[in-house]
Amino acid sequence: MPLMTTKPMFDLAYDGGFAIGAFNVNNMEITQGIIEACAVEKSPLILQVSKGARKYANYRYLRHIIAAAVEEHPELPIAIHLDHGDTVDLVQTCVSDGFTSVMIDGSHHPYEENVALCKKATEVAHANGVTVEAELGMLGGIEEDVVGLNAEEYQKNIEKFLTDPQQAADFSKRTGIDSLAVAIGTSHGAYKFKHEATLAFNRVEQIMKTCPGLPLVMHGSSSVPQEFIDLINKYGGAMPNAKGVPEDQINMAVKKYGVCKVNIDTDLRLALTAKIREVFATKPAEFDPRNYLGPGREAIISMVRRKVGPTVLNSAGKADAVIKQWEKLGKPLPAYYGRK
Ligand code: G3H
Ligand code: 13P
Ligand code: ZN
Repeated sequence: MPLMTTKPMFDLAYDGGFAIGAFNVNNMEITQGIIEACAVEKSPLILQVSKGARKYANYRYLRHIIAAAVEEHPELPIAIHLDHGDTVDLVQTCVSDGFTSVMIDGSHHPYEENVALCKKATEVAHANGVTVEAELGMLGGIEEDVVGLNAEEYQKNIEKFLTDPQQAADFSKRTGIDSLAVAIGTSHGAYKFKHEATLAFNRVEQIMKTCPGLPLVMHGSSSVPQEFIDLINKYGGAMPNAKGVPEDQINMAVKKYGVCKVNIDTDLRLALTAKIREVFATKPAEFDPRNYLGPGREAIISMVRRKVGPTVLNSAGKADAVIKQWEKLGKPLPAYYGRK
């Protein structure tokens, strides 16, 4: 049962030229699509659950879907991660629910509050053998709404929102976190860039210097594949200006820098939506959910296979090595599973 924390994964990914895909799960078909793709490609993976996903699906259902995925594929190294947790209480709940990793996101708080929140959350998680991700800086897409900025104001002032390398060093030292989500120009959702997409790789280099060895995480890393946007627009949707992070830029972040975890949610949503729209438009009499969710799941499988492949995350074929690393570390599992 290689359910594990992110530690053995990041140990190898940091300078191994690959990163672990962290895919958001909200229902059975999405979970199956991700896991089937990783099984074919022998790729380690992180299944992540947001607060919204917990609410939408009722975590009890998601927990059993995820448990089924782990049971179906005992050969795969899998971490179960809380995405954008906002309180210590939620971290505690997820630890009790069997998550092996959590994110505590205090990036929208003043710095000292973020430090205090993450320090407390890390104490709770670490006491239970669970790894912790935090965030510094501000991504676009969703997070700017929190401070009342629109997307244009955010882009205009982007330098100011990128992660500060000196602050990152202070932050990781004072909180004891295991990985840090950095703001380097990515953003959440399907409308990431108006013009040319560019990531601030110089920031990543600086952060790697001030925080040597600290695994870095890239949120907002969907590439918004044109094939899905075309299908959505062709079959009644309206997403004319959707734009994501080009996959070659993700690949560069992964191969050249200490980016160990890459978050992908929007691309899963687009794959599912595109296929459902196609079925509805081309087969208007169709009313069996299996006949539109099934093609959506197939589209997720193909898309995730490409993501974990050498042109994007390069994690395909790394499952066995991660399991070996986990064994070398003494198979650590959260206390929930009865072991330290
Ligand atoms: O970063 C946000 C993820 O895409 C999760 O989104 O909160 O709508 O589930 P959600
Ligand atoms: P995308 O919206 O680019 O898929 O980012 C997802 C994410 O960062 C989840 O935390
Ligand atoms: Zn995110």
